Amino acid sequence: MAGTKYYYLDNAATSWPKPEPVYKAVESALRAGGNPGRSSHRSSLAAERLLFAAREKTAAFFGIENPSSLVFSLNATDALNMAIKGVLCKGGHVIITPFEHNSVLRPLNSLARDGLILLEEVPCTSAGEPDLNAYGEMFRPDTALVIATHASNVTGLIMPVREMAAIAREKGVPFLLDAAQTAGVIPIDVKELKPQLLAFAGHKGLLGPPGTGGLYVEDGLCLRPWREGGTGSRSHEVLQPAEMPDCLEAGTHNIPGIAGLAAGIAYLQEVGLAKVREHETLLAGRLREGLKSIPGVVVYGPENPLKGVAVISFELEGVDSGEVGYILEETYGILCRTGLHCAPNAHKQLGTFPRGTVRVSPGLFTTEAEAAYLLKAAM
Ligand SMILES: Cc1ncc(COP(=O)(O)O)c(C=O)c1O
Repeated sequence: MAGTKYYYLDNAATSWPKPEPVYKAVESALRAGGNPGRSSHRSSLAAERLLFAAREKTAAFFGIENPSSLVFSLNATDALNMAIKGVLCKGGHVIITPFEHNSVLRPLNSLARDGLILLEEVPCTSAGEPDLNAYGEMFRPDTALVIATHASNVTGLIMPVREMAAIAREKGVPFLLDAAQTAGVIPIDVKELKPQLLAFAGHKGLLGPPGTGGLYVEDGLCLRPWREGGTGSRSHEVLQPAEMPDCLEAGTHNIPGIAGLAAGIAYLQEVGLAKVREHETLLAGRLREGLKSIPGVVVYGPENPLKGVAVISFELEGVDSGEVGYILEETYGILCRTGLHCAPNAHKQLGTFPRGTVRVSPGLFTTEAEAAYLLKAAM
């Protein structure tokens, strides 16, 4: 047993630790109280101001010009459900990649089971990327939505989402970008990538607390809200207001979480995204090369760390991944993730279904010594 010291290598699930200002912002908002937009007393107004500033900061981070087109959510899953159910209320044909997370697959498959949608996966090239020629030919008159993960949470591979978004736009179909693994890790500007919808987690690369995330909805695109209720606005009306962000933000906000998310983004801006990327790419490259050099270890994902985010999946031939994870924790105090990582189709693509892989994901606060320690443990 490794004792009480442990080494956190599971930042793709949720980042840890958080920067100090994030802990402070959460505590301060929790102590201040107030429900934004609900009352005209000082506490409510202060919470409203905090929410407004956090929305402006988060929107600017993604190059979103109109902050009202950004809604806060509970996590990436919540944002993805909002987008999927909001766009597909009338059904249609949907195109996805084989690397989607269950937060995309499950809502879609339940709509498909109910006969509402037809779901199709883009075939991949030998490099594991969606085949753009085949993709372009998949569009039909009833194609209603395209969804792509920005980077696989199993292999880390960054997908050609700019090209995919451009093709979808040309065909007049909304493109939903799942940035759960890339927000706060690689720069995302909606003016450049041009997705109509962008879902992100606040608790991973953005360094915010669990219970945070968001969805950007391009102006002019109307989503049917899948959660309806109090917004503090138009209270005389018994239907959900159509205006953004209220349309998609029913119920009391997670103000301490949102305050922490804004502090996480501020911290990232201070460090600089280029530095974050440089650090994580360095560690990912070392881990990948080090693991590959160990006899019996198979590493999945792009050879060039610049083609991926810091997510490395591997297997030890003949040993169950769960057991490898158990030994890493019990003997070495290393915390990583094992199994299918909620992306079963990605494993079908890689040939690792149903056994899964061991996944290590260093983050901004992972040190070079910690990465070296993992390699020593794996040898
Ligand atoms: C690619 C991808 N999409 C969606 C999600 C869901 O994120 P959340 O846990 O914030 O709901 C994850 C989580 O790991 C992910 O990796």
